[in-house]
Amino acid sequence: MEKIKETLDYINLKTNNLNLDVAIILGSGLGCFCDDLEGIRIKYSDIPHFGSSDVKGHKGELLFCEIEGKTCVIMQGRFHFYEGNSLQTATYPIKIFKKLGVKTLFITNAAGATHKELNIGDIMLITDHINFMGTNPLIGKNDDTLGERFPDMSNCYTKELQKLALDCAGELNIDLKEGIYLATTGPSYETKAEVKAFRLLGADVVGMSSVPEAIVSNYLKMNTVGFSTITNHATGVSDKTLSHQEVIDTGKTTSKKLSKLIKMMISKI
Ligand code: HPA
Repeated sequence: MEKIKETLDYINLKTNNLNLDVAIILGSGLGCFCDDLEGIRIKYSDIPHFGSSDVKGHKGELLFCEIEGKTCVIMQGRFHFYEGNSLQTATYPIKIFKKLGVKTLFITNAAGATHKELNIGDIMLITDHINFMGTNPLIGKNDDTLGERFPDMSNCYTKELQKLALDCAGELNIDLKEGIYLATTGPSYETKAEVKAFRLLGADVVGMSSVPEAIVSNYLKMNTVGFSTITNHATGVSDKTLSHQEVIDTGKTTSKKLSKLIKMMISKI
């Protein structure tokens, strides 16, 4: 708890005790969400007890700003397990956001589709997830002041926010897909056999993040909504080999669409 207090003290000093409504985690290539936003920027490396992220396509800072009349914090780049962060470190910002007043968390990511009903450039609303990371961010002694030891996961992605996402997408003429996100630890992309197996398990897309964040957000009883941008077909779904640069480039093209959708949702929360 001393750790959390030190982090909060630093952020409160820099933001003059902003009380937040919304947090948004931006995935690979989605940084341009922030292009037309002004606010207070804090580098992760300056924040006590924050992790570090140096993956290409991730900026590594928090932006505190106003969007559609709501006070928001945007995480430009997340902490991945595959970078050597523990899942506790990877999800530490979510606990901080909760303490700063956040009620709604938007999670975004880049993901590979396990079948061809999803096209590159599509946006998929995450309706549920499969944790294939083999671990869980809540492992360890539970802090009962934050949440329950055995949190229910039946409404991990808030139903009302899913409905709002679909309604807003309709208004914006965005063909919003829906499906299940499966997370592996990465950093290697999947083999063909793994992608086939994941499809059989019910996964529509596969990625290397987001699930730990959603688990902790649900544990903290924050409203949670998740979007995947389909940056590629997963291994074996098409004949192409995968490159992180392509993932970033496709993420960038899709991000305008996703920005509009998220901003409209924020105006209606
Ligand atoms: N697999 C895992 N993670 C990803 C992919 C993928 O195909 N595309 C973007 N992130």
